[in-house]
Amino acid sequence: MRIIKATDYNDLSRKAANVIASQVTMKPDCVLGLATGSTPLGTYKELIERCEKGDLDFSSVKSVNLDEYRGLTRDNDQSYYYFMHNNLFKHININSENTNVPDGTQPDSDMECARYEKVIESLGGIDLQLLGLGHNGHIGFNEPDQAFAPVTHCVDLTESTIEANKRFFASADDVPRQAYTMGIGTIMKASKILLVVSGADKAQILREVLFGPITPQVPASVLQLHKDVIVVADEAAMSKF
Ligand code: F6R
Repeated sequence: MRIIKATDYNDLSRKAANVIASQVTMKPDCVLGLATGSTPLGTYKELIERCEKGDLDFSSVKSVNLDEYRGLTRDNDQSYYYFMHNNLFKHININSENTNVPDGTQPDSDMECARYEKVIESLGGIDLQLLGLGHNGHIGFNEPDQAFAPVTHCVDLTESTIEANKRFFASADDVPRQAYTMGIGTIMKASKILLVVSGADKAQILREVLFGPITPQVPASVLQLHKDVIVVADEAAMSKF
């Protein structure tokens, strides 16, 4: 595991974008695993700028997103499809047919999760998976649990995640209660993982994730077992090391 210390959020965004840019430059037809949330926003902005300048070419890149709320349509402004389209895809030269997000409108969860897992497999697996970190140690929507989920599955969101995400909805009642997410096993199969963590409010959980026991109660702690993880975190997030 490589830990890169960034001075602040802007520095983190540049450093994380450097890792993704290297991946795309070295393997132009790579498969990028992508995340939503506030942490990667600066990284996406950096990637957009580099693409606009002609320094990065996404025309052969394929992407798979970690997760999607169950029940939200693509044009719902809180769906993760909408987020990805507006914060990244529409600003870069990626072919939208090469972008994949679980289909939140598919009511048969078993069918949708199996389909999504097959999509990832058919692309030859993920070259680089970008992850943010939840306050309870979640990655994707893999919440603290009794066991690590092996594959893409449907989850019930915890109260703490509903609470954290309600800022994006009119009220907590409007936050969907379920989501489709890659499993921990799906994430761990990625060749490389890039975890981005920002802010003092993540300092305690980041310490547990990197140095605490490996347990499904802290889902991201499993990353200690992955052979190629880069953590980019700012000083505030590293303040409890
Ligand atoms: C997003 C995702 C989540 C977030 C996590 C951190 O697709 O799967 O696990 O990465 O909740 O979110 P932020 O970056 O908003 O703190």
